[in-house]
Amino acid sequence: MISNEELVQAAIEATKNSYVPYSNFNVGAAILTKNGQVFTGCNIENASYTPSNCAERTAIFKAVSEGQKEFIKIAIVGGPNGNLENYCPPCGVCRQVIAEFAEEGFQVILGNDKCEYQVYDFFQEVLPLAFTKNKLK
Ligand code: THU
Repeated sequence: MISNEELVQAAIEATKNSYVPYSNFNVGAAILTKNGQVFTGCNIENASYTPSNCAERTAIFKAVSEGQKEFIKIAIVGGPNGNLENYCPPCGVCRQVIAEFAEEGFQVILGNDKCEYQVYDFFQEVLPLAFTKNKLK
């Protein structure tokens, strides 16, 4: 099983592909599937701004489009001008997308450039009172 440090390192690598001509704020994410695969993603901006996609969603959509939608945890790093010294929590839209696929116990790992990290329980700490698909039943 991949370590948290290795998952953070994969997220750091992903920031190198960030397409951020407008914000210059690089974000990388790496999500671990239950079968041990890692999907990475970067943020991808657009001249029209709203079509921009966050790193977390890039990683999740890559995984789902490859048939993987059972996840254990996601590592996220980000910062201005590629400076990854501070922790970068996921935005609200990404929290909602994570909620679609996360199961009880899913973890969010915020990392920095030293591969230090903080671990959060998604449903307890990152998106309590989540609106999820079982509400639609
Ligand atoms: N961003 C992410 O990629 N993930 C987040 O959760 C926070 C924000 C991106 C969007 C935009 O490209 C840049 O960071 C500045 O908001």
